[in-house]
Amino acid sequence: MPGTFTAASRGQLEADAPLGEIPNLIGDIRHLIPKYGLRNYWYPAISEHKVPKTRPVRVSMLGEDLVFFRNKAGEPMALQDVCPHRGARFSQGHIHWPGTIACPYHGWVYDENGKNIMVLSEGPESKVCGKSGTEAYVYPTRTLKGVVFAWIGDTKPAPIEEDVPPEFFDDGAYITWNDHVHWPTNWLVALENSMDSHVAYLHRDNIQALLGADNVGARGASGYRPIFTGNGFKAGRASTPASAGGSGVSAQDIYPDGYKWPKKHNRKFWTWFFVIPFSLLRAPAPPTYDDNWWGTGHRLPGMFRAGAGGSRVQPKGLFSFFRKGGSGLFGQYTRWPVALGPWTTRLWYFHYTRPRNIFQRWYYKFVYNVWGRWAVEYNFSIQDGSMMFNQRYDWPEKLSGHDAEVIQWRRLVVSKAYGGRYAQYGYDHDKDGKGIDERKVEAPTGIFSKDSVPGNEIAAG
Ligand code: FES
Ligand SMILES: [Fe+2]
Repeated sequence: MPGTFTAASRGQLEADAPLGEIPNLIGDIRHLIPKYGLRNYWYPAISEHKVPKTRPVRVSMLGEDLVFFRNKAGEPMALQDVCPHRGARFSQGHIHWPGTIACPYHGWVYDENGKNIMVLSEGPESKVCGKSGTEAYVYPTRTLKGVVFAWIGDTKPAPIEEDVPPEFFDDGAYITWNDHVHWPTNWLVALENSMDSHVAYLHRDNIQALLGADNVGARGASGYRPIFTGNGFKAGRASTPASAGGSGVSAQDIYPDGYKWPKKHNRKFWTWFFVIPFSLLRAPAPPTYDDNWWGTGHRLPGMFRAGAGGSRVQPKGLFSFFRKGGSGLFGQYTRWPVALGPWTTRLWYFHYTRPRNIFQRWYYKFVYNVWGRWAVEYNFSIQDGSMMFNQRYDWPEKLSGHDAEVIQWRRLVVSKAYGGRYAQYGYDHDKDGKGIDERKVEAPTGIFSKDSVPGNEIAAG
């Protein structure tokens, strides 16, 4: 049960201790998905500038309540937002002295190690003060590039470099971000949104997509084979050629009865109109550090990365000249949904660029604030939201070959939720005999084929 851990019972196990039996991963396994996201991972919790020096602030995520304040050195830190005395909330309390927090009820004061150092309602001779069992749980936290990450789990923390993208540890990296977007949907619904074929249709009139002209329609009949990379999936080669707008294929599809799609070519006009001004508003995505672990695709504990290595909306010819260096998602793009509740998700958007000098850095910051943030996080994402917020996630599904990654992601998530963060990914749990050592990321072998998913109906491919 989330939120019921005491300091004494928590953080004793090593992070690689196996948790338990992984269920059979056949058929619809949505009911096995943890509603609050995967525990025992690092997550972005709060922007550093939102942790005041003079008062505590509460953050609820993954079904837990955290209280953030600053330690003696002025760095953000977090305790469980429940006073060990009788359960009042530290977040309503006070910072009387730097690096301490006083519970508002009976004045038990805690230091940055979670130790009870004073009981203000009982005086200096208090018999309970500092007694064993009065400790508050201290969340492992780390502040990187202005973002405070927290380990949400029951074990000792795993190395943060396994969960947080490498640009956060890179002095030359510049990261702009947005932590304001909240979606009234489940975290996995939010993540699955970027795993399918909707871009070609739903986003066809998105302002960025205008630059792709009729290429917005680029798609294949049976989708991409997701390749397991150790911490998630990247898209493999398309298993069938792209349809309209794809390279070398007609820009308009003809359906039975002569129906044409797209109906008109007016998007091409907009592309010509906007290509030069838009080229000034781009920020190139730097090369990835390791395409398997951190390139375009989905990564544990649940983020979407795009930008480096191209995107699904790619122009050709002259357009590509103006579109050098990225997909228009502003640098390398990471969208990381974090469950605040079962049906409330905060979307963290990170954009990684590599400015050559301070002027370029200002320029990127300026362009992001006046344009990039709106175009990507709102204009683009709102179209997604308008679908997801009303989506029936409890309804039986009829999946297409384009949903292949959705199926594999659910298996990955359930494997980790039940078996622990180092549990083997569940290819072998459908008894197809294909065991995969996921730690060997140099040679990904987990290529998905429709034959490996009995119980899931693949309509195409
Ligand atoms: S409940 Fe916190 S001091 Fe009593
Ligand atoms: Fe989308």
